[in-house]
Amino acid sequence: MIAQRQGLLEAVRGRFAHVDVCPFEGPRVFFENAGGALRLKSVIETSADYAGYADNQGRDNPASKALMAAIDRGRADMRVFFNAQGGQVFVGESGTEVLFRLVRTASLGARAGGVMIGSTLEHPASASAMTRWAEVTGRPLIRVAHDDATGTVDVAAYQAALTPDVRVATIVHTSPVTGMTVDVPAIAAAIRAVAPECLIIVDGIQHASHGAVDVAGADGYAVSPYKVFSRHGYGIGWASDRLSACAKEQIVGGPAQAWELGTRDAGAYATFSDVVAYLDWLGAQFTDSPERRTRLEAAGAAIARHEHDLIDAMINGVGEVRGLAAMPGVVLIGGASVDGREGVVSLYHTTVGSADLVSGLAAKGVRVHIRKNDHYCGNILGPLGVEDCIRVSVCHYNSQAEVLAFLAAMEVAIAG
Ligand SMILES: Cc1ncc(COP(=O)(O)O)c(C=O)c1O
Repeated sequence: MIAQRQGLLEAVRGRFAHVDVCPFEGPRVFFENAGGALRLKSVIETSADYAGYADNQGRDNPASKALMAAIDRGRADMRVFFNAQGGQVFVGESGTEVLFRLVRTASLGARAGGVMIGSTLEHPASASAMTRWAEVTGRPLIRVAHDDATGTVDVAAYQAALTPDVRVATIVHTSPVTGMTVDVPAIAAAIRAVAPECLIIVDGIQHASHGAVDVAGADGYAVSPYKVFSRHGYGIGWASDRLSACAKEQIVGGPAQAWELGTRDAGAYATFSDVVAYLDWLGAQFTDSPERRTRLEAAGAAIARHEHDLIDAMINGVGEVRGLAAMPGVVLIGGASVDGREGVVSLYHTTVGSADLVSGLAAKGVRVHIRKNDHYCGNILGPLGVEDCIRVSVCHYNSQAEVLAFLAAMEVAIAG
């Protein structure tokens, strides 16, 4: 446990920038992690270094060779992060763009005909990509309904809709609105059992900072580095060998298997190496395994355990301090379950508006975000008949003291 190890939470917090002070606003508790996690200090330094290098790749000089080595190192680190046995890793413009690219390539590469399948739990990035490419390729798109009460979608719901002619499927690993995780291996196995040809794309963007990532069973997987302790400006993807073999945009005569186009930003790869190095360090606090992947998995498990305790404190309270579930008028989206929740609690109040909750919490130094029944969150809030909610999101560098500060601020905010 991170918090139970003497000095470890402080050491973790020491590796991140702006942990308890916003450079624009001053002291605050950062519970807006689902909108973008805190940055590693190492990422900031690396970014600045690489922004200063004018050299380009593919030249016979030491600077060029150093940049290419950083790119190779970044790719190797990404492979460990994804636990990729084969396939390819690549850097794109953003998580959304990587998802569009994976879905587009799968839709155009799959055998003609058949159907495509996704779920109503998905973020609009994958949902919109599926809508567009189902339309372009003339395939019906099946959208498996999630369960409003639990805030997730299960294997039985997918199973009921599966047919052998499913060509492309999407699965969201964790909902960024309900915070509830999805059993990706079980759903992928169910799809494979009925439609072995199907290309399966996973949106791991909300999951990636909350536990280890493993692409087993998938053909494509997308992550947004700014949500996993790196920075804005790039997305990363993994694609299986069979998905990588599908035709895609590439310079004529260039490497047909490659997903990447144009000159690379070596800083993107180098900053992701910083993320993997951090997780490696964290994992080494919990295992003395010589295997890097084992250390990353140990980090993922420690992160999940710490966040479970934070979410439990938030929902169920600590000692005499009552939690959200006991606060009158507070309604939790997706129910009060702690298990299966990855870093996010979304809620609304029956009489205090969500905008007032956000500003009331801000006045007490707690940063959270409003989510509205719009094109980003309407898939979750619309069916509930809810116009807005607040999203409170934690990461493993947050502390129980911060949760208690949030609960105290909530008591004031809901008291009017
Ligand atoms: C689950 C999920 N998918 C996709 C996205 C879009 O990612 P990006 O902002 O990198 O395009 C987000 C962003 O919030 C997300 O949470």
